[in-house]
Amino acid sequence: MCGIYGYIGEKSVCEVMKGIKRLEYRGYDSAGIAIQTDLPFAEDGNTRNGDGITTIKNKGEISNLEKIVLNRVVKSNVAIGHTRWATHGQPNIKNSHPHLSHDGKWAIVHNGIIENYLELKEQLSSDFFVSETDTEVVAQMLEKYYNGDVLSTIKMVCEKLKGSYAFAIITSHCKNKIFVARQNSPVVVGYGKNYSVVCSDINSIKGDRILMIENGQFAVLEKGKLSVYDNCLKEIDINELGEIEKAGGEKLGDYSHYMQKEIEEIPIAIKRTVKAYANVETLEKILPKKRFEKIKNILIIGCGTAYHAGLVGQRLFEEEGIFCESAIASEFRYKPFTERKNTLAIFVSQSGETADTIGALKLCKQKGLKTLAITNVKNSSITFAADYCIYTNAGSEIGVASTKAYNCQLAVFYILSKYFNYLKHGDLKAYDEEIKNLRRIAKLIKYNDNKHICSKLAQKIHKARSIYMIGRGLDYNIAQEASLKLKEISYIHCEAYPAGELKHGTISLIDKNTFVFAFVTQEKIKDKTFGNINEVVAREGKIILFSPFDNANKKVCEEVKVPKIKERYYPLFIINYLQLISYYTALLLGNNPDKPRSLAKSVTVE
Ligand code: M6R
Repeated sequence: MCGIYGYIGEKSVCEVMKGIKRLEYRGYDSAGIAIQTDLPFAEDGNTRNGDGITTIKNKGEISNLEKIVLNRVVKSNVAIGHTRWATHGQPNIKNSHPHLSHDGKWAIVHNGIIENYLELKEQLSSDFFVSETDTEVVAQMLEKYYNGDVLSTIKMVCEKLKGSYAFAIITSHCKNKIFVARQNSPVVVGYGKNYSVVCSDINSIKGDRILMIENGQFAVLEKGKLSVYDNCLKEIDINELGEIEKAGGEKLGDYSHYMQKEIEEIPIAIKRTVKAYANVETLEKILPKKRFEKIKNILIIGCGTAYHAGLVGQRLFEEEGIFCESAIASEFRYKPFTERKNTLAIFVSQSGETADTIGALKLCKQKGLKTLAITNVKNSSITFAADYCIYTNAGSEIGVASTKAYNCQLAVFYILSKYFNYLKHGDLKAYDEEIKNLRRIAKLIKYNDNKHICSKLAQKIHKARSIYMIGRGLDYNIAQEASLKLKEISYIHCEAYPAGELKHGTISLIDKNTFVFAFVTQEKIKDKTFGNINEVVAREGKIILFSPFDNANKKVCEEVKVPKIKERYYPLFIINYLQLISYYTALLLGNNPDKPRSLAKSVTVE
């Protein structure tokens, strides 16, 4: 959510433009750059000269900014840039970062939210403000409280802030430096010969040596040099800071979109996840028997797709006789906490940066629960916050709509459920069998020729105004994730419903123009769901049925006969159809599936 990139060294403007481009998946409402330069530019709606600093900004995707920046000869050794996902004020040029102080001597880019910004704004002259953002308040405070020393001014201002931030700041009071501060929003810094760099995303930074800045720390970047300070401004030996091993960036290659590529990679991603935990010893090292055999309850927390993966996880643990609950992180954080004994709290997050999930994790830790993170991103914030960590190994996921990461989160839950069974009963056979089964499913997805039917179904539904998805048990969980996928990139209203709940109100919305996807894969409850399907058909609703079973009601609109597999694996298998249908539907509607409107890949604000 928002991206920061700053660079000191030759061609800093080019490096920053490339850097924010790599971060664009985090937000793409508007973008901007601040350049330290003594040569003012011709001012226009996009360009504003400060005192020794010029900002250039534009609305929309970074390509819009690129057009105006790259058209000019911009030479500077110091630049900071930002790609924005709007939180305060519309996504227009004025609200874009970087923000200049009134005297033009400070420029700042920010990720996070300053919660007390209105209160702070009241203490500043209202004539100074050009934007509606929380960030501009910080720029004006830097000017107001400047005490002759830049770093101590930044520290003093930070102490007045409530909320979360990662800042990169340049100032003409102290040229050729970038100042960095962090509180609850990730930021990494790096350097090499003749350059140094700051970035909000571990996977998008380019640098020979990369270090993570901790909460409350400050960093000062110079050409080829980096200094880090603690919250009392005592310098920290950077050799003592954890150095970061970076995951390689991913290229789009021959694919049209990351989402397409990432769906295609699902089988190989599942195989990678399974391989990592194929030997039970690996999990025994991460989650030692002694510490976990007494676990009686599991609590799974996440947001969006990660929450949906947790819902499937819940059913898998329940199958093993373990009491399990799931919760949406943003809800869990603010409800009364019920004391729990022998409970493991699991936090699922692809990015490992989701503010609500990390907030819920910290709360559980405070309350004395053991915490385990399931994440895809090495060195992400959640990996430092949790007591234990399991990686999904899906490979980088760039498309905003989560696909392969979801499948790998499920794979981890299948394995974990059998691991807890092994801890309880010593049943290694069941664990090994699970590994084999998951490999089989990965193969089945790989060779399942479903592109044609998915594109046909996308054709069918793409003009719909409203769609419902129904199922019971695990089939309801399929419906939940499928409906999120479809709505987030097609913008068609789509709701998931437990099949049996439809008749308690929502069925009144079903008419001859309503498509209803129905998932029926669980033998025990299939007749019940078929009954609910009949109720929809009776109201002329158009059923699109996914099932391995013979269907008695010939009046469905479309039927996708899926192969017979062990029932517990249907969420892993069937979601692939719905990921593809969503992708094709977005394309038919002219939407960019990688950058759906109003969304961002990692949600680092509450
Ligand atoms: O990075 P996380 O897994 O914590 O992200 C959680 C949600 O924001 C995320 O799954 C979101 O719902 C996706 N865009 C869905 O495709």
